[in-house]
Amino acid sequence: MYELVRKALFALDPERVHHLSIDAIGAAERLGLMSLFAKSIPDDPVELMGLTLPNPVGLAAGLDKNAQAFNGLGALGFGFVEVGTVTPRPQPGNPQPRLFRLTEAEAIINRMGFNNLGVDYLLERVKHRRYSGVLGINVGKNFDTPVEKAADDYCLCMEKVYAHADYITANVSSPNTKGLRDLQFGDSLNQLLAALKEKQNALAEEHDRYVPLAVKIAPDMEDEALEQVAKSFLEHGIDGVIATNTTVDKSSVAGMEHGAEEGGLSGRPLTARSTEVIRKLSSELNGRIPIIGVGGIFDGDSAADKIRAGATAVQIYSGFIYRGPAVIREAAEAIAKLHQGRAVAK
Ligand SMILES: Cc1cc2nc3c(=O)[nH]c(=O)nc-3n(C[C@H](O)[C@H](O)[C@H](O)COP(=O)(O)O)c2cc1C
Repeated sequence: MYELVRKALFALDPERVHHLSIDAIGAAERLGLMSLFAKSIPDDPVELMGLTLPNPVGLAAGLDKNAQAFNGLGALGFGFVEVGTVTPRPQPGNPQPRLFRLTEAEAIINRMGFNNLGVDYLLERVKHRRYSGVLGINVGKNFDTPVEKAADDYCLCMEKVYAHADYITANVSSPNTKGLRDLQFGDSLNQLLAALKEKQNALAEEHDRYVPLAVKIAPDMEDEALEQVAKSFLEHGIDGVIATNTTVDKSSVAGMEHGAEEGGLSGRPLTARSTEVIRKLSSELNGRIPIIGVGGIFDGDSAADKIRAGATAVQIYSGFIYRGPAVIREAAEAIAKLHQGRAVAK
């Protein structure tokens, strides 16, 4: 069924399809129609950052940047949904075209640049949520905020969304905002993490509720840098790591139509690299901080591989665009089977 829908949608401009789909999912949910598309997902509760997920397969950030469709997306069976990236002020993002399908590689290149309607808009959307599952809110900085002042943007967004988020993600790994990924290294990272933790602790006291904080990293780091990142996360008491964002390494799609576009590459070509990053991180973190694995999940095997590499839960973006809701069930079933096998082995 989704094959047919995809054929029709892929004939249109990718960004137009994106907006049409968000509108359609929003409308279908308001009309109570989402159950028609929902797949039956096995019950496989998982503890993540102190939260209980009904299943460990989530929607990755960037698909519902403004929280316009998360009620409907949640109804499709995702165990958790992450909205954003949102920035303090609305911003248009990069000029179009900025979203490209590489169909033969089942990949996407995007250089959206955090186009979003701003945190106040998102806040109004999530205040009236009907989705009762786990909601993550992914925050970033405005493109024109100097990197030295980035912490102010993250903290401002945290403060605004805190009461309505089940967890908050600091996105320091988008390749499409100048200087953003520098925040993943050395003193810049440590200063940012210190500021975020201070803010989180103050907000936890104020609201009498602790909202976990995850940080999302890029797949383009050397092992040594990953070791440093893991060390910093442990030192600062970060609650979760999301690995990974899109890659700037486009060697796997060289020569393909759109293969040389600027931006971040996601989908199938990212599968192995993101799993490798998870494996490395997992050996550094040793279970002390949970990992949410994302990058090129298209089916049960690629989802289960992320868990085997050390992830506690997974997220999907491109696989959902290419395969539709079926990928949620396949991923959840494969992980549930893995969990059952582990329980028997104990
Ligand atoms: C069009 C597009 C927009 C994205 N926007 C965001 C974003 O705003 N924030 C973020 O943290 N990740 C964003 N991502 C990255 C995804 O959340 C995910 O980490 C990445 O695509 C790898 O997963 P995938 O291979 O399943 O797509 C975006 C990805 C795509 C394809």
